[in-house]
Amino acid sequence: MNKTSTKQPAGPVLDIRDLVVELPGPDGERLRALDGVDLTVRRGEIVGLAGESGSGKTMTALALLGLLPHGGSATGRMLVDGDDVLEMTPRQVRDLRGNRVAMVFQDPMTSLHPMLTIGKQLTEHLRHHKKLDKRAANARAVELLATVRIPDPETALGRYPHQFSGGMRQRIAIAIALACDPALLLADEPTTALDVTVQAGILRLLDRLRRENDLSVLIITHDLGVMSALADRVCVMYAGRIVESGPRADVLRAPRHPYTRGLLDALPHPGGGTAALLPIPGSPPKLGQAPAGCAFHPRCPHAEQSCREDTPTLLSLTPTHAGACPIDPLAVAVPEVSAP
Ligand SMILES: Nc1ncnc2c1ncn2[C@@H]1O[C@H](COP(=O)(O)OP(=O)(O)O)[C@@H](O)[C@H]1O
Ligand SMILES: [Mg+2]
Repeated sequence: MNKTSTKQPAGPVLDIRDLVVELPGPDGERLRALDGVDLTVRRGEIVGLAGESGSGKTMTALALLGLLPHGGSATGRMLVDGDDVLEMTPRQVRDLRGNRVAMVFQDPMTSLHPMLTIGKQLTEHLRHHKKLDKRAANARAVELLATVRIPDPETALGRYPHQFSGGMRQRIAIAIALACDPALLLADEPTTALDVTVQAGILRLLDRLRRENDLSVLIITHDLGVMSALADRVCVMYAGRIVESGPRADVLRAPRHPYTRGLLDALPHPGGGTAALLPIPGSPPKLGQAPAGCAFHPRCPHAEQSCREDTPTLLSLTPTHAGACPIDPLAVAVPEVSAP
């Protein structure tokens, strides 16, 4: 896929600053789903956004696409190639969604129509967004299916989604997402529904697309293992805030935040069996029920009195690695586990 546009702004593809998203609560109160999120994706970079279910990962992507739940509101800045999404008209946001930012979901059937052939879905998209004529759209559709490694693309165009496996369907959903030459691909749990070998294939595909097409990717996942295969940088989210961010190796090998460490300890180790799993006790707070201070403190083995009072901000450890915890986990002895 060749980029036809010569316009390539110098800054990051995505620059989110102090994004606050509020949703209406049952009694009309405003509940904070995102509480000051900062997130940057540079050109050609794959950034992983990790965290347990309910942390606000999907909400971040939906805010960016102007697709908040009914009654939701967003403040802050969300720059895509320098243009603030929060200042765009609804029409400009729709254009952005079709052309500059594309999304793939956990379930590829979310973006595939079950009753239409793959060819119809791809070419409609190309004719509508790219204004290609029928023949050019067909040729481009074949090219896109080949890019995502669908075998025999010409024949595949005449098939329906259900005639493909889950992994192949996800490849097709990625092809549709790529149809408009987006600068940024948001991939929300794109491999969660797939088995491990198929998952690895999709991750390799995203990596290749980034290298060959200069695509920038924000990959959202609850699974830090997925990050270790792919992401250049990792951001960890908890209760609507980024609690750690940095280059993959730094975050995964020397996590600063006890939450990141907890997520890593909960990962199955190769050959370790299930005994190696150490899940984080408790569960993340529900919307609007985050405790005062650091939202993670009730689950944190290192929590001190100050953690119950002060909300920590991201502190730089190195110029590129930051964590929102004033306590150095390496300097703190692991407390004894008290009997329940
Ligand atoms: N449509 C919605 N209406 C109300 N609350 C929602 C909706 N979608 C998500 N939430 C809440 O917003 C918070 C963030 O959710 P989400 O971004 O989906 O988390 P994640 O993708 O990290 O699992 C959670 O507390 C969730 O319950
Ligand atoms: Mg989600």
